[in-house]
Amino acid sequence: MIYERLLEHVQSDFYPMHMPGHKRNKEFCMVNPYEIDITEIDGFDNLHEAEELLRDAMKRAAAIYQTKETFFLVNGSTCGLLAGISALTKKGDKVLVARNSHKAVYNAIFLNELHPIYLYPEMDEEYGIALQIDPKQVRERMEENTDIKLIVITSPTYEGIVSDIQAISEIAHEYGACLLVDEAHGAHLPFMKNAPKSALSMGADVVIQSVHKTLPAFTQTALLHINSDRVNKEEIRRYLGIYQTSSPSYVLMAGIDQCMQFLENGSSRFLCYEKELELLNQELLKEDKIRLWQPMGSGIPKDPTKLVLTKGSGSGRALYDEFRLCYHIQPEMASKDYVLLMSTVGDTKEGLKRVQQAVRMMNQKEAGNTKEGKRKVQEQSTFQFVFPKRRYEHCKTRGMDTMTIPFEKSEGMAAATYVYLYPPGIPLLVPGEVISEELLAQIDIYRQSGLEVKGLKEEGSKITVLREESAEIL
Ligand SMILES: Cc1ncc(COP(=O)(O)O)c(C=O)c1O
Repeated sequence: MIYERLLEHVQSDFYPMHMPGHKRNKEFCMVNPYEIDITEIDGFDNLHEAEELLRDAMKRAAAIYQTKETFFLVNGSTCGLLAGISALTKKGDKVLVARNSHKAVYNAIFLNELHPIYLYPEMDEEYGIALQIDPKQVRERMEENTDIKLIVITSPTYEGIVSDIQAISEIAHEYGACLLVDEAHGAHLPFMKNAPKSALSMGADVVIQSVHKTLPAFTQTALLHINSDRVNKEEIRRYLGIYQTSSPSYVLMAGIDQCMQFLENGSSRFLCYEKELELLNQELLKEDKIRLWQPMGSGIPKDPTKLVLTKGSGSGRALYDEFRLCYHIQPEMASKDYVLLMSTVGDTKEGLKRVQQAVRMMNQKEAGNTKEGKRKVQEQSTFQFVFPKRRYEHCKTRGMDTMTIPFEKSEGMAAATYVYLYPPGIPLLVPGEVISEELLAQIDIYRQSGLEVKGLKEEGSKITVLREESAEIL
């Protein structure tokens, strides 16, 4: 039973280094949720046509984030991305999209039959981590395609890398396009002194933030901010009416409002948290094998709340398991060569201390293990991160015949489904993209490293691909 499983987990001594950002910290406790779980009865307004209670709460949020208008989302940043991209484009428009976008962005492209042109992030090849989107690349693509209507960038990324949104928004506006920033991981940025700036103060037109990821708020809760006069508010409202439930939970909406109240009064809490986080970051940087990853090259801004730890002599998955099994610390994510721990203002001092001590002890263990370490690093050095080639536009794959075939025999075929690691939910393959030898090798290495690749069938042995004779080639 789900409830019993949850109770068992929360009664254990596991410390959450994952979302949601409230970290199950009792400080943010509300009453028994059943007592405040109502529907749109008199006096409680209606999210889709907010005129009083909810309108006032959203106005308060807009004032806190200093936006033109802010909407509460109860279906996560996912519904914000679907609504925002739909509202800022017309069917068939060209859009410029970072290839390291979350799959909600690809779903919006599919549903609106948009024509995506991709921006490719620079990569940290050693760890397979996407870095910034270079504004020069944005300008080149805009010069080649002056009819692009919308640019979509993720910043910060899952690992906390922030792009130069100021430069990118200036380019977008120069060419008459809007910039939508998926800031699902950045709702906390405006309240931190030592973190990169939010896209809200960098000229983005629409910014979408998951409050549940990095702030004390319930899972599923998020915000869509309108941040310029280039955006048609009525269109945003229309599409939120389509993509949000008609029965938004008052527990979730009250949770967002409580979070906003925390932001209004929480500056001292942020100050204390930032001090502790800074100390933890410094300690983790001093470590040897399992240590804090920092982007190479100077001046790449990174959110310090994302603790990306290099794997040491084992795999990312082995490090993840060690955190869980030996130290009862639950990380957010394992990748092939690193583990991501998410810290938030909801963390306790003791929680952060536990992380530091665990990493210290793991490094001590590593010190006695150096030979093994060298061997494993050499074994994995053939790994190469690949962005696949596109054969069909995603929207053109709609209605095409498909077939399910053994995965290892799929080289040269075009995928009919997304293939991705979750988290982070960034597609390794988008429908219509070609399965290359390099990609097969990459996915194989992920699986050998103990990562679960989603989107495949029959325990990963099969994949659904397009039957190509019925396709219209780009
Ligand atoms: C970059 C990014 N964008 C959007 C989303 C979707 O957010 P939500 O879970 O709030 O729907 C995620 C979720 O992990 C994400 O990492």
